[in-house]
Amino acid sequence: MFNVMQVARQLKSAVLADPERFYSNETGAWVTGLPKPQDIQVVTGREPFWINLGYWRDVERVDETNCERVGELFMDAQAQMAHLLARTARLSEHDSVLDCGFGYADQDILWAEEYRPARIIGINVTPNQVRIGQERVKLTGLDTVVRLELGSATRIPYGSGEFDVAFALESAMHFRTRGDFLREAFRVLRPGGRLVMADMCQKTDRESGSGLRRRLRHRYWRGRMAFPEANVWTTQRYLTELREVGFQKVRLESIASDVYPAVNTALAALRGMTAAERKPGDITVAKVREDVRRARQMEFEQLQWLTLFNCDEYAIVHAEKP
Ligand SMILES: C[S@@+](CC[C@H](N)C(=O)[O-])C[C@H]1O[C@@H](n2cnc3c(N)ncnc32)[C@H](O)[C@@H]1O
Repeated sequence: MFNVMQVARQLKSAVLADPERFYSNETGAWVTGLPKPQDIQVVTGREPFWINLGYWRDVERVDETNCERVGELFMDAQAQMAHLLARTARLSEHDSVLDCGFGYADQDILWAEEYRPARIIGINVTPNQVRIGQERVKLTGLDTVVRLELGSATRIPYGSGEFDVAFALESAMHFRTRGDFLREAFRVLRPGGRLVMADMCQKTDRESGSGLRRRLRHRYWRGRMAFPEANVWTTQRYLTELREVGFQKVRLESIASDVYPAVNTALAALRGMTAAERKPGDITVAKVREDVRRARQMEFEQLQWLTLFNCDEYAIVHAEKP
């Protein structure tokens, strides 16, 4: 009976592709211990709760010799993703920033402290994340600079031309739809304003060539992880959509090789070490090392994000409003 209910819930999630549901019930933070949304506890406000795949170019990657330190290594790579977005946007003290899909607000704390923009407004559809983000911003004393609100990136509750920078750090693939977000981002940016995103897409069309079983499998997983079909774009389509909205100086810089292989290994280590700590009798650290070694040897096409989402591109997207 329980299993029937569980399968029904999973199918419902796959059909709904609803990010609020996904982040409220199914996935918490991708940090040490993999806490579920309801288990996240704020103490100092500085404990990490990132939920991104990480940018692993200049940091130590996880392997079978260091997998005990996966929490620390993962966190470094996740913070690097936020730094990469800030550098791409040339984030500075004068900027008024809109952050769409801020998770538990780790990136806003990092940007506020290290780049000191004039203000950051964050919007997020997941109520639990907004509440935790607000608590953290208050505890860290950043609430004069950072304001976090419940709201959707597809209906931004701000007037035209209010922001210098709009960010979407690994969130736009969830927006219903990404196209609606691009129009809204264009509206709320001032002339000269920059849109910078970290996002997933396909280098070339991978959908039409694949068989029915594969297509159904990708649809199922994208739905369950709240990635609507309308957002399955190729790089070319992405560039065209940005230009059609009115953006100029559009570019997509591929960082897929510095994201997908390393995070695949890191997640194998994080899951294994979490299980080994929770139930030491069930899995040994030696077994985790072996799983990590196997993860490291996978071909690109076997990596988790390709098999689930069929997205072989991970890009930093940059565009300017003329
Ligand atoms: C993969 S998480 C990334 C979180 C954060 N950027 C990080 O790196 O830790 C995606 C985030 O997008 C948010 N989100 C999804 N749809 C949204 C929407 N329409 N408007 C605003 N936020 C949304 C989710 O609630 C979640 O916080």
